[in-house]
Amino acid sequence: MAKTAAKSSANVREYKLFINGEFVDAAAGGTFETINPGNGEIISRIAEGTAEDIDKAVAAATEAFPAWRRRAAAARAKALFKLSQLVEANAAEFAELESLDAGKPIRDSSKIDAVTAIDALEYFAGMATKVEGTSIPVPGPYYNFTAREPLGVIAGIIPWNYPLLQAIWKIAPAVAAGNTVVIKPAEQACMSVMRLAELIAEVGFPPGVINIVPGFGETAGEALVLHPGVAKVMFTGETNTGKIIAANASKTLKPVGLELGGKTAVIVYEDSPEDYASTIAAMAIFANQGQNCTAGSRLLLHESLHDAVLDKVVEKAKAVKLGDQMDKESTMGPLISEEQLARVQSYADAGKKDAKLILGGDPPDDPDLKNGFYFSPTIFDEVDNSMKIAQEEIFGPVLSVLTFKEEAEAIAIANDSPFGLAGTILTRDVGRAMRTAQALEVGNVWINTWGAVTSMSPYGGYKNSGYGREMGFAVMQEVTQEKNIWVNVK
Ligand code: NAI
Ligand code: MG
Repeated sequence: MAKTAAKSSANVREYKLFINGEFVDAAAGGTFETINPGNGEIISRIAEGTAEDIDKAVAAATEAFPAWRRRAAAARAKALFKLSQLVEANAAEFAELESLDAGKPIRDSSKIDAVTAIDALEYFAGMATKVEGTSIPVPGPYYNFTAREPLGVIAGIIPWNYPLLQAIWKIAPAVAAGNTVVIKPAEQACMSVMRLAELIAEVGFPPGVINIVPGFGETAGEALVLHPGVAKVMFTGETNTGKIIAANASKTLKPVGLELGGKTAVIVYEDSPEDYASTIAAMAIFANQGQNCTAGSRLLLHESLHDAVLDKVVEKAKAVKLGDQMDKESTMGPLISEEQLARVQSYADAGKKDAKLILGGDPPDDPDLKNGFYFSPTIFDEVDNSMKIAQEEIFGPVLSVLTFKEEAEAIAIANDSPFGLAGTILTRDVGRAMRTAQALEVGNVWINTWGAVTSMSPYGGYKNSGYGREMGFAVMQEVTQEKNIWVNVK
């Protein structure tokens, strides 16, 4: 699909790298631009970090580490609380930046992104004072105990679908535990992360504790992963990128945490109320234009309610208001980029060959939307799980509907996937719900809901959806290492 060349909008915001507490140009002097995916206009110009800038950021983070880890945990907590207050005071601006840059409807970004980021900052601020070791009753004249210690410099590499939130999920636990960080945001959308850097400067974290170096994956990202001064990489993004990162990290034997793609099954058993099932099913695939790693992209319907639920999902898809993401009435905005639009289109085309197209399948006809990367809500019925659209992650508003007769069959279909991030189970039968929850090969199970995430609960994948966990106590283990200490008391 040919798009008009990007043109500058009236106000293009400029951002620099944030290294050692200062805003600086890139060493090589380069910049890149982000565009409003709703109309193709350039909205920001950002200093483009490369290996040289990564070197400087890692050096600053390395220098900041000894003092930061020795700071009272309560002082680290206080700095994070202060950051949460600043994000809260600027929440409306964050919602606007997130929508402008990443294309999410403003009505969603004002409720979800900054709110969840503030919650995470507060939760991990509270966690700073609760990282404890254990005491072990060993035989002999000894005390034996463990201490949990920070790792050093942690690299956070994040995607474009929730830039602010993803940055906070990497920064907050790491910094709470006494690590220092270098964040590499995604090149497609990072205005909110660059604005966050300004607030980090305002809080007054010691220079080098938090560094933010935007740039491209193959340059800045790769330099960060290969850097011998980085103790660990925490990554969220595509499964294939995760494999490259794990391979590169192995050269310096650094551990990695990987939050990768998914192909969530939404299983609707025969006793599930049809209205509710269709509401959950539509939300699970159309929220954020389907650009969620947990998007409910496979809808598994029991044959007895297949027609009724599918009709209602189609109704809900037709009621989606696809439009300018800055318009409060819009319930769906554009995809992130022309590249992503082409990718989603290619999957829709594969679906048209393999399955039965029920709705959508192409960009909307609306001439007002022709300069943006919009794609219509799309539903395929009569999908077999072996088809490309059922096996691969699409990351767009494309739903595959499959039919089953038995509980065991539903579970087998759900598990017949390289991914294992999440699953949704809709039933009022508690035994069936719990049997299915036990059987699903996924890291997150939602019963009679979809998409619930909090800072308090561990989040992560099985199988090709990655390893390591974010959130909760679980992530505090990921950002620390355990030291065992023996004391001879004789
Ligand atoms: P991506 O993997 O292409 O990029 C993610 C980040 O990695 C970006 O910052 C990019 O610059 C960087 N990167 C790319 N190549 C790299 C390399 N060789 N070395 C180091 N860094 C590199 O992912 P994308 O396309 O930006 O985001 C969408 C993907 O993220 C989807 O597949 C989605 O499932 C996944 N995702 C997973 C989540 C989870 O929690 N499991 C949450 C959100 C997104
Ligand atoms: Mg990509």
